[in-house]
Amino acid sequence: MLLVNFKIYKNTFGDGALKLAEICRRVGEKTKVKIIPVVSALDLRRVKEKVGGEIWLQHLDLFFEGKFTGWVSPIAVILAGADGALINHSEHQIPFGRVRQILAYLKKKEWVEHWVEELKELGDYRSDIENFKLAFCVKTKGQVERRVKKMTPKPDFVAYEPPELIGGTVSVAEAEPEVIKRIVDLLPDYKIIVGAGVRNGDDVEKSLELGAKGVLVSSDVVLAKDPKKELTELAEAFAGKVKIQKSPVLDEVETRSGNFKNANQR
Ligand code: G3P
Repeated sequence: MLLVNFKIYKNTFGDGALKLAEICRRVGEKTKVKIIPVVSALDLRRVKEKVGGEIWLQHLDLFFEGKFTGWVSPIAVILAGADGALINHSEHQIPFGRVRQILAYLKKKEWVEHWVEELKELGDYRSDIENFKLAFCVKTKGQVERRVKKMTPKPDFVAYEPPELIGGTVSVAEAEPEVIKRIVDLLPDYKIIVGAGVRNGDDVEKSLELGAKGVLVSSDVVLAKDPKKELTELAEAFAGKVKIQKSPVLDEVETRSGNFKNANQR
């Protein structure tokens, strides 16, 4: 999956958000790659209604309902149609305790039941809450070691983005392949997303080779003269790589021969 973080560039507000989300939808359909627009809270509902598909939010706050002026309530974003969100992006960090509370409120069974009950008068939101995805963003391998390993409940994804590479021309896979590999090894039960400085198909391919399951990108697409062209290059690289990794022919040969791998290793 490719996540396109719209951030808050002037060309990703309002109609700009719609236009870019529509490009994501079309490129996704053409390449058969899941491409998810990650939009601001202001554009969420409109993008969801007019473009549809899976849409994520760039940030969530803790408070769900009540006397909390101006906070981005996870429940309100679910009601507005969001399918997932980044939490603790390096450009919008929140205290770790708050991350854990958000995870508890959205992933613990008793809390899910609580919100389903609370929202009953507005409709049945069980599956929206249960399927809502959270990607916890980390900036360093140290954060993975200190924080993610102990997390319960777990986020659906861990997104690794070194802040110094964000918006630059050297990608995370190029600059820090060892760190990505290490994070993938440290967290065998997690789906890892990587991002920062992603500029071309090679960056996507390298990220997947290193074990990432998804790639986060922003400026390469969002600020491009031709966002469709840029996104198509990334999505094609993604599709090609996933196809190679999951080749049905290879799978079949492996299953039929049984010792295909051993034979090759000899
Ligand atoms: O969340 C994605 C973002 O921080 C990466 O930004 O501009 O380096 O692709 P960019």
